[in-house]
Amino acid sequence: MAVDAAPPSIDDLLQHIRPAVRERSEYIVDMPEGIDVKLNQNESPFDLPEGLKQELLDAHTQVEMNRYPSEQPEALRQALADYDGVDPDQILVGNGSNEITYTFGLAFLDPGDPVVLPRPMFSLYEKVMRLQEAALTSVPPRDDLQFDADALAEAARATDAVLTILTTPNNPTGLAMTLDELEQVVTASSGFVVIDEAYVEFNPEGTAIELLEQHPNVLILRTLSKGFGLAGARLGYLLAHPAVVTELMKARLPFMVDRFAEQTALAVLRRPSLIEDRVSRIQASITALTEALQALDAVEVVPSQANFVLFTTPAPADALQDRLADRGVLVRNMGGYPELEGYLRVSAGTEAENNAFLAALEMSLSEIPAGTST
Ligand SMILES: Cc1ncc(COP(=O)(O)O)c(C=O)c1O
Repeated sequence: MAVDAAPPSIDDLLQHIRPAVRERSEYIVDMPEGIDVKLNQNESPFDLPEGLKQELLDAHTQVEMNRYPSEQPEALRQALADYDGVDPDQILVGNGSNEITYTFGLAFLDPGDPVVLPRPMFSLYEKVMRLQEAALTSVPPRDDLQFDADALAEAARATDAVLTILTTPNNPTGLAMTLDELEQVVTASSGFVVIDEAYVEFNPEGTAIELLEQHPNVLILRTLSKGFGLAGARLGYLLAHPAVVTELMKARLPFMVDRFAEQTALAVLRRPSLIEDRVSRIQASITALTEALQALDAVEVVPSQANFVLFTTPAPADALQDRLADRGVLVRNMGGYPELEGYLRVSAGTEAENNAFLAALEMSLSEIPAGTST
């Protein structure tokens, strides 16, 4: 006979969710109404050309929707290997590089394992490491906001870190590390070192791929969301030692890259001049944006090697962000990072978008008395 028990209350049920999850916040990017100029997520301002979209649509009609894709999209893996001059077994393709970051957490970290994270950096890393209950060592930046390679190398050595994360150029600063600095941290580490190259296409320092040859602990993470302008397709990939790729394949979800995304990336990779042209236009946009911001009274700009610019003004960042949004321009307030109080980050837009942003900024700055918070 079934016992008549009251169903568990939602509060009781929530107690079963791990504290490491309950303590986190959801990753939500604000999208207020009435935004015409969206410069808050380091996206490319350029959608795919219409002709290419039509070609993709036609190709998509051939896709067998009733069939699973393969565990790894092999044609894309080969194309990315050719693009980077490595072997396909050194590549793991993911549903955005964020998905691969989650796999790092699953594959590498038991609770209490030491992890070194520089500050300020892309917040997803800290979130994943905390979900895995890793023991975090957070390394502050130098006064110029650059990552402190000496301190990072020392922290990796002293804690015997299982994982150290570097991003170059870094989000949200836009600052890049040199190859020597990266190698300094890599050689000091007995564990893995992730080098996130999400913005590599814009970086005059170039890639750190050559470190892979000598250092099997190097994990290079890439995304097609920035220079390739495919944030909507969700594609990222890892370059690593084949044995590491094999182990990561055991931890990750299969079938994460769908057939549409694979075809889209292959079509773009077949057009290297499209990407080169767009990257150089975005670099020109960064130069123009930097110069225009520098010309404004009391605005300080961090020199960017990525596709966005970090800047500070005498006005409080939250009030300024709100005024810009009221004028239809969305940028990101970076004040949540302790080192970046007062800073905003703006993505490189088209010329028209940059002009709309700059006009809205000037008007907003003239309205907000310094020190007024919302
Ligand atoms: C440093 C860094 N890594 C990774 C990503 C996200 O990459 P994906 O879109 O491939 O998940 C971002 C996005 O802003 C980023 O700034």
